[in-house]
Amino acid sequence: MHLLVLNGPNLNLLGTREPAIYGHETLADVEAACMATAAKLGVSITFAQSNHEGALVDALHEARGKSAGVVLNAGAYTHTSVALRDAIGATSLPVIELHLSNTHARESFRHVSLIAPVCVGVIQGFGTAGYPLALQALHGHLSR
Ligand code: DQA
Repeated sequence: MHLLVLNGPNLNLLGTREPAIYGHETLADVEAACMATAAKLGVSITFAQSNHEGALVDALHEARGKSAGVVLNAGAYTHTSVALRDAIGATSLPVIELHLSNTHARESFRHVSLIAPVCVGVIQGFGTAGYPLALQALHGHLSR
């Protein structure tokens, strides 16, 4: 089984970006944790990040036929992108929505997710530990 872990805008700055909210681990640390979790689950993963909405749409399209499912931290595009929501719907890939922070405990504009209705489920508020949790949840969903 191959899975995609896809990260959106500003997540390349993890570790230095607002550490009080997002912590001190870098995206490379997160990738290493995902690789370790994938090995335990017996799956392979592609780990990717883009700051560009269209590139994220392209990555979802390209995942068709390659990946069985996606863990997606869409960053701010979560709250704004009809295009990402439509890409999830169009690919019919099972997607787990992921956030490091608990978006419901933050500004009101973060309380709305345009992608949540087309995702299998949402994991948020557990910092970088959410990534392994999301991979486990996706693997469990696909194995049922
Ligand atoms: C985030 C939450 C979003 O609201 C924010 O725009 C991000 C990161 C998170 O992981 O907590 O960029 O997706």
